[in-house]
Amino acid sequence: MATPYIVHCDGPEGACRIINVGSGPASREVSSCILTIFGATGDLTRRKLLPALYDLAAQKMLPPQFAIVGYGRRPKDENELRAELCAGVREFARLPFDESTWNDLAARIFYQPGAYDEAASFTALEERLKTIDEAQGTGGNRMYYIATPPGEFAPIIENLGNGKRDTGNGTSENGVPHSALSTPHSFWRRIVVEKPFGRDLRSAHELNGLLGKYFDESEVFRIDHYLGKETVQNILALRFANAIWEPLWSSRYVDHVQIVVAESVGVGRRGGYYESSGALRDMVVNHMLQLLALTTMEAPVALDANAIRDEKVKVLRAVRKLEGEAVLENSVRGQYSGYKSEADVAPDSRVETFVALKLFVDNWRWAGVPFYLRHGKSLPQRATEIIIRWKDAPCVLFNDDGCNLKSNMLTMRIQPNESFGLRQNAKVPGSGMEIRDVSMSFDYSETFGAEPPEAYERLLHDALLGDGTLFTRRDETEVAWDIAGGILDAWKTAPEPFAYEPNSWGPREADEFINRDARRWHQPEKDAEL
Ligand code: BG6
Repeated sequence: MATPYIVHCDGPEGACRIINVGSGPASREVSSCILTIFGATGDLTRRKLLPALYDLAAQKMLPPQFAIVGYGRRPKDENELRAELCAGVREFARLPFDESTWNDLAARIFYQPGAYDEAASFTALEERLKTIDEAQGTGGNRMYYIATPPGEFAPIIENLGNGKRDTGNGTSENGVPHSALSTPHSFWRRIVVEKPFGRDLRSAHELNGLLGKYFDESEVFRIDHYLGKETVQNILALRFANAIWEPLWSSRYVDHVQIVVAESVGVGRRGGYYESSGALRDMVVNHMLQLLALTTMEAPVALDANAIRDEKVKVLRAVRKLEGEAVLENSVRGQYSGYKSEADVAPDSRVETFVALKLFVDNWRWAGVPFYLRHGKSLPQRATEIIIRWKDAPCVLFNDDGCNLKSNMLTMRIQPNESFGLRQNAKVPGSGMEIRDVSMSFDYSETFGAEPPEAYERLLHDALLGDGTLFTRRDETEVAWDIAGGILDAWKTAPEPFAYEPNSWGPREADEFINRDARRWHQPEKDAEL
């Protein structure tokens, strides 16, 4: 998708300028609106969305004319819903609970029961939204948030779009017809779609097609909550606000890159979902490829949504696709012992809870540099890190007791304890020339004295502002599934995943996999040994 721009010809003697209009917001103030949440009684709403909205309310980042309509299948008393959400806010909000902030927000929460696949329920919803507009002064702007299981995505989108499509209800600026629930031109409407965004290229493409039928791309906000993490955004700041990295950030100096997303928890109560997903679909196709893209992309022409996404798509297109034998050579699947006895998991499940991959980015900057991705559940600790390992310095000067220089390494720790660390070699004080590795580090909370906002806080706020920078664009989702497609296909007929013990770093075969390249996995708590 091309970066949107307009040509402005008001200069002297008709001179023209190109003005990049991106899709960023004009101001950082949210306009009055109603947020409708489909799946209002679900876990995501209780644990993430309402706590984030509460945190925004506590920071006065929501407009005074703002309402939340929870939509769900079951009839529910509005006060009962508020009480459930309140418990979630008390437990999960980042900021301390304040009775008056909550009461003010709770008074603007409503509930509308209805089916997801029934036009009449959506007509009733629209009527309700209009009544709320009148009572609350919310003025007609609409944000729809699909937080349901993925099977409901299509009917909801269809029903939001259905009915008035051909009745001359109006079209948006780019000619996309307004839907039954759309509002006149002066009002905006947006749709936020949770993950999983499809389960392969075909389903993602269909879902994109459906969204595109009723919504303009600038109205669609596909969630990848990793993009809302402060440290993920800081990858761009580190890379492009500092002059020293650019020349060193290439195959000329970099030996390899590791991206690790380790989780200490198992699948818990999400066995049913996980059985249809597995580690690759759950974490790699979205979060980890986003980390890869931000680490490898070229500098965007501007810090706006389309310029950044153009660069991400470009680099993802350069990721070498694995197929057939190459998949087996460049990947390892694992499953933790005990997974098959988790609730809602098949006793003979072949679903992977661990994945290790070796990918290559076949472009000028990265040709030949391996990118090792590793993710698993039930590992010894929770840690997300990106590690850049530079090539070894020549040992000629420090070879007396055998060369023990460590290669330079930048560790970007996304979570927890958000930080950066740069490993270098230094002289140990004394009369000899003993060398030891030392780390220069920067710690977020120590330096800035504040906890970064929760990912959902940032993402909800950006979507309310209409800023799509931290959301995935249509082509990004498809190129990611294109990368994963060959891997998923080859795994269908591959042997079972290797077993590993909970609380270990995955199957032995994953170690052998990287050792074959004369490299080792970076283990977050063992930095010094690498
Ligand atoms: C979700 C996955 O997208 O991300 C979960 O579905 C995973 O399986 C979670 O646990 C991890 O998110 P975070 O923010 O805790 O790293």
